[in-house]
Amino acid sequence: MALIKFKVENRDGNIQELEIPDDMSLSLMEALKASEYNILATCGGMALCATCHVQVKEGLDKLPLINEDELDMLDTLPDAMHDSRLACQIRINDKIEGSWFRILGPEHE
Ligand code: FES
Repeated sequence: MALIKFKVENRDGNIQELEIPDDMSLSLMEALKASEYNILATCGGMALCATCHVQVKEGLDKLPLINEDELDMLDTLPDAMHDSRLACQIRINDKIEGSWFRILGPEHE
């Protein structure tokens, strides 16, 4: 087991470093929710809702390539950028060590 470290920027610009174990096969969306971030994730991680939208401010080139489902879903978002990803499609492993994610999806009440 290794602890994977990465930065998370909240909607208010607050930046925190998270350390998440890599042996629980969590997605970034699940790790953010477990760390008390307000993430809607309506579809539960199926790449069907896009409410887990994040911007990858650092480390985009190290991530596994985006798949078609994720790309199609991101295409539905008016605020998607070239470095947008869905947090539910990113796994917690050494590929995201040192990355910086900014949360963009809507908050729940
Ligand atoms: S949780 Fe729905 S697309 Fe990621």
